[in-house]
Parts: sequence; structure tokens; C-alpha cells
Amino acid sequence: MNLPLPETRGAHAPLPVVARRPAQLVGGTPVLWIDEPFAPPGRGFYAKLEGANPGGIKDRPGLHMIREARRRGDLVPGAPIVESSSGTFALGLALAGLSFGHPVTVVTDPGMEPSVLRLLATLGAHVDQVAAPHADGGWQRARRERVAELLARTPGAYCPDQYHNPDNARAYRPLATELIAQLGRVDVLVASVGTGGHSAGISRVLRESFPALTLIGVDAVGSTIFGQPAAPRLMRGLGSSIHPGNVDYPAFAEVHWVAPAEAVWACRQLGRRHYATGGWSVGAVALVAGWVARTYPAGTRVAAVFPDGPHRYLDTVYNDAWCRDHRLLGQEPPPRPDEIAEPDERVVTGWTRCGKVRDPLGRATVERAGAGVR
Ligand SMILES: Cc1ncc(COP(=O)(O)O)c(C=O)c1O
Repeated sequence: MNLPLPETRGAHAPLPVVARRPAQLVGGTPVLWIDEPFAPPGRGFYAKLEGANPGGIKDRPGLHMIREARRRGDLVPGAPIVESSSGTFALGLALAGLSFGHPVTVVTDPGMEPSVLRLLATLGAHVDQVAAPHADGGWQRARRERVAELLARTPGAYCPDQYHNPDNARAYRPLATELIAQLGRVDVLVASVGTGGHSAGISRVLRESFPALTLIGVDAVGSTIFGQPAAPRLMRGLGSSIHPGNVDYPAFAEVHWVAPAEAVWACRQLGRRHYATGGWSVGAVALVAGWVARTYPAGTRVAAVFPDGPHRYLDTVYNDAWCRDHRLLGQEPPPRPDEIAEPDERVVTGWTRCGKVRDPLGRATVERAGAGVR
């Protein structure tokens, strides 16, 4: 396939009336005001609806990381792309592969929703599924080891490495400038954390205009990112069983951990009350952003990133039988989170907040930012 390279749209370039290529449909996502039941009338937050991208939020880093890898010469024309993903980045890479002319193999695990497997196949990606979790590093480590195996045996193959490649965070400059154009000012940004890419990239650019910005991270219970021990996780997208180098620890004022039943409640409220909803990370972020909107001084402008839409979760978050089997229904979250003074004070099992954020591995920021560059 010998397509011309998709152009990088400028930060404020409007979406074309008629797109010539699907990559031109990425970005320029809308913002929706969300209030009740998360906050009383008059109070609320602005949700950036990244589910309006063709694949989801990861269309942005998918295209940017592949464009940059080609520019550097790390990825030669037509060479295969191999990456580990729990879903959204796979869709972004499928778009990048199609746009730039590379075959894409996505390494995933049995937790990947069957509908996403079918969707990826429809979009031309090859899916390689690992069968068992790694004893220490869970599914994520098992997937990454499989990626290393495939890279070793495929000449010219390239792994974008979304966990450690700084181009992941850099891909979000346009999203931040869109927010500034849409909201004028942002005081608090609430973002979920998986690889750390969008929280790091958006907050960095917003701080160029609003140095006093407060960044609040949202993680899943059982995730190791902010210093809790690893445990099996139902929630996908946010959270991790490794320590991704893209997480910008010093950028966060605080972190919240959210449990699956709380995210399900929030997702379903969003759907019923606001139509716009999504997956686990959307529910978790809405819960925390609503709390910020109710508790911070009136007039605080709160933005929250909704990474995707609901369709992928119709058999999980929005399936009553599945939710009942996992005891996720009918549990309205408490009005405020539990508090811990240190991220490793105790194992958290429900919505909990901590005002101390540090890298559990004690890495230097510079080291982290440089990790993974090929
Ligand atoms: C649906 C969803 N939400 C949130 C995240 C976390 O985003 P990030 O990797 O930029 O931290 C991801 C990451 O894969 C995701 O797929």
C-alpha cells in the first residue's frame, strides 16, 4: 500500500467538511457539561468526549507515534508494527497502520472483549492473544514478553511501546489546545491513568497557559501505578500491573483509586442523565470530577477526559447479568472518598484518595522521559 502520509492537522484546524482519509477525522472532539447527579445544579464539570474520535482517545498517539517513528527512520515504509494493548491503542494503531501502510499485530489477553477482537479484525489488524498471566507482572508483563518474542523473530518489526515512548504524551498537545479554545481556562484536570500518556501530555501543555493547574489522577483499585500492590482487575483501560515510564508523577496533586462497582454506577448514571457515557475509565473519571465540582470553590473550571464511548462495554459494564455475576449492581458510591496519607498505607478496595503522589520505583523524571526511545 503506498498512500501519501496523512498530514498533521494544526491544533485549531477545523475538521474537514469532507475527509479524504480517516486520519483527518481525529481530534476536534466536543465538550459536554455534566452536572447532576454528580454535582448539584449550577456546579459540574466539562467532559472532553474522546469517544468521538473514529477509534477513541488513542487514535491521537497511534497516529503521532507512528508518524514520528517513520520520521526518525525507526520504522521503515511497509514494516510491521507489533504492540501490546488492552484495546483502545490497538484501534489507534489499526488506523495508523492503514493510514501509513503498515501491517499491525496487537498482542492482547483473554480479557479483550470479543466485540473488540472482531472490530480489530474488521479494521485489518492481526490479534495475537497470550494464554496466561506472568507470575509477577500479570497480563501486561505476559503481553510485553510476547511482543519481545514477536519482535525478535520479525525482521524490521517496530514496537511503539506506548508505556515508555515519550511520543505518547506528546501526541496530546492538540487535545490540550482544543480544551483551551473550548473552555478558555482550565483550573482542574481530572484524567485516568494507564500508560500515563494523556494525563502527562495534556497537563504539560495546559500548564504553559495555566501554571496553577491542578492535575488529579484516577486509577483502578488493584493497580500498581501509584504504589498499591497488584491485584486482579476487572477494569480495563485505566490502571496497570507494571510501572509505565510515561506517568508524570510530579505533575499530580493527588490520586484517586476507584472500584469497579463505583465505575459501573457512574457509567450508568452518565448514560441515563447525559447520554454521553463510556467505559470503566469514563465512569471512574466522572465520579472523581463530580466530587471536585461539588467540593472545590464555586467557579472552579473542571475538565475531565472521557477516553471512549460505551459500545465496547455493552457485554460488561452495561450488561445486568454480567454485572450481577460480578456483584457490581446497586452500589451507590459514598459521597466522598476514603482518605489515606501515604499511597501504600493500606490496600484500598473502594474509592480512596491520597494527596501524596510519588513514583513507587523512585525513578528520576529525566530518566523516565527518555526511556523507551528507539
Ligand atoms: C479506555 C481507556 N481509558 C483510559 C486509558 C488510560 O490512558 P493513558 O494510557 O493515556 O494513561 C486507556 C489506556 O489504554 C484506555 O484505553
